[in-house]
Amino acid sequence: MTTKQITPLTDSFGRVHDYLRISLTERCNLRCVYCMPEEGIVLRPKSHFMKTEEVLGLAKAFVNLGVKKIRLTGGEPLVRNDAKEIIEGLSKLNVSLAISTNGILVDKFLDTFKSCNLRSINISLDSLNEEKFNAVTRRNDFTKIRSNIDLLLNEGFHLKLNAVIMKGVNDHEILDFIEFTKDKNVHYRFIEFMPFNGNKWDWSKGLSFKEIMEKVENVYGDAVNKLKDDKNDTAKAFQITGYKGTFAVISSVTNPFCDTCNRLRLTADGKIKNCLFSQSETDLLTAFRAGEDITNLIRESVWHKKAVRGGMNTFEDLSNPELNQQNRNMISIGG
Ligand code: GTP
Ligand code: 5AD
Ligand code: SF4
Repeated sequence: MTTKQITPLTDSFGRVHDYLRISLTERCNLRCVYCMPEEGIVLRPKSHFMKTEEVLGLAKAFVNLGVKKIRLTGGEPLVRNDAKEIIEGLSKLNVSLAISTNGILVDKFLDTFKSCNLRSINISLDSLNEEKFNAVTRRNDFTKIRSNIDLLLNEGFHLKLNAVIMKGVNDHEILDFIEFTKDKNVHYRFIEFMPFNGNKWDWSKGLSFKEIMEKVENVYGDAVNKLKDDKNDTAKAFQITGYKGTFAVISSVTNPFCDTCNRLRLTADGKIKNCLFSQSETDLLTAFRAGEDITNLIRESVWHKKAVRGGMNTFEDLSNPELNQQNRNMISIGG
């Protein structure tokens, strides 16, 4: 038997891309302050977005080019009516499947996750306090999400919780988040607040990796252990001695990790984004609908990926609205 040789998706810096994040929709049932512009977003007609078969067809093209992991994102991926069909279709490709969700609907998808071997789930939990959480998300779903998190833990899923750390909002909860890892098999990630279109970013609202770790080390001292990170991890991971769970910091603002990046994005309207911060995109969906081969479009896009944060090399670049507002809003990127 011969095995087909795939030329990996390599960029001009030699980085190999084998991880695709597919945004299934720009719609969401929450309104998180750091993600969704206050005025909302303009929803376009359905015809602009990938249909079930188009998601699967485009995903397959990426898998044929060496993609080994697919993470579904949104908006909120599970609000799509065909989310079950898409997960089932993707599970037939030879990839490891994961999802980033706000957690509201996960109980309805438990059987699908199990039958499709989707075991890795990331959920935002920006506060452990109901009132605070509901204020950040501008909705009232804390209780539902907390009970779904317990459900996933009881069912043995691989669970990561995300908290975007913001001054005066949840920075006083960092130690509570760490205590949450004491007897639960959970990985809590603290994320530096990043600038996207319409999210009123201002670094004076954010906390840096250094500031977060100082808060932790002041209390736990020598009990803070650095863990070994995987090759393409975005997070720097730690564990408190004797605690069951772990925690980590995602430091895209103060310590970007772009040199090991293996990620590509497919937006809900079928564009490839070669970086979270990329200012240009390539339309794959129109070409796919016209029956054209999209392989070269994908390879070209990957090749032209910038070294760091879509070309925003320095903190000054990232802080410059003329540069950081050239991107989409986060709700239509999906993280
Ligand atoms: P895994 O590593 O597969 O667990 O996923 P993840 O942690 O990247 O995914 P998730 O959707 O939970 O995102 C967590 C945070 O990481 C969000 O703030 C994302 O915006 C950020 N993030 C995800 N991918 C990238 C990336 O490629 N670059 C940067 N700078 N940040 C990223
Ligand atoms: N900065 C950092 N992380 C963000 N997320 C959404 N918006 C931002 C932002 N401005 C994170 C959420 C979610 C993940 C997919 O993206 O925490 O868990
Ligand atoms: Fe990759 Fe861009 Fe994220 Fe850097 S900012 S890790 S290059 S996606």
